[in-house]
Amino acid sequence: MRQMKPQPLKSPQVELDPGFRRPEGRNYLATLADLHERLKPGWYLEIGTHRGMSLAQARGRSIAIDPEFKIALDLFKALPELHMFAATSDDFFATGYLSRNAIAIDLAFLDGMHLFEFLLRDFVNTERAASPGGCITIHDCVPANHLMAAREWDKARTRHWTGDVWKILPILRQHRPDLMLSVLDCAPTGLLAVTGLDPLNDVLHRNLAEIVAEWSPVSMADYGVERFVRDFPLVAESAYVSAL
Ligand SMILES: C[S@@+](CC[C@H](N)C(=O)[O-])C[C@H]1O[C@@H](n2cnc3c(N)ncnc32)[C@H](O)[C@@H]1O
Repeated sequence: MRQMKPQPLKSPQVELDPGFRRPEGRNYLATLADLHERLKPGWYLEIGTHRGMSLAQARGRSIAIDPEFKIALDLFKALPELHMFAATSDDFFATGYLSRNAIAIDLAFLDGMHLFEFLLRDFVNTERAASPGGCITIHDCVPANHLMAAREWDKARTRHWTGDVWKILPILRQHRPDLMLSVLDCAPTGLLAVTGLDPLNDVLHRNLAEIVAEWSPVSMADYGVERFVRDFPLVAESAYVSAL
């Protein structure tokens, strides 16, 4: 296992289609590291760990969920507790592990399956377990082109795939206007920070089937790139973390 060395994080250059934005802030991992440093979460929950790059930014008690861990970093020295679940997030939440152990999540990072219906369920389940004042961060909500924002990952034509998780933005805006959405300009594809969480609010859960049916066929071209850029301006990640 490799030891993490602190070094500037390089972000891959992603191809920009007309009208899209390329977030110009630091790499999302640097922002995550600052969020851990400033918020000092009692419990951190991560969905989608892969090699462990995002988990390596955590310093507190952590829960990591991924059906196919490919951990390639020495994560264990920095973490006082690490609970790893080799399962899909749906299967993990169905176990009731969090409520059974009275675990309240202070900071979460959702980066599992990149289809909006999976992310929406991850959001609903994570918010239910969130602590007052908790923060849920979501990766990849600012795609740079149509190909990476498609529901199918065309691996022959693009290395980077955000999928259609960008839809979480208009969905939360419409159904949960009480939430505070900050679309951070983290390279390469943004980081959404959601605060003002309400674990008792079941609007999304109650309307899940209708929301999924309504949004499944909508592509970024249907929604409109210009409208997306206008509706969801980017916030400088450096200013956001400094203000915490
Ligand atoms: C983009 S990678 C995560 C990268 C990591 N967070 C980082 O920043 O380095 C996505 C991960 O989500 C996992 N995944 C896919 N479907 C999932 C699901 N239903 N529940 C949880 N994780 C899932 C994949 O196995 C993969 O390792």
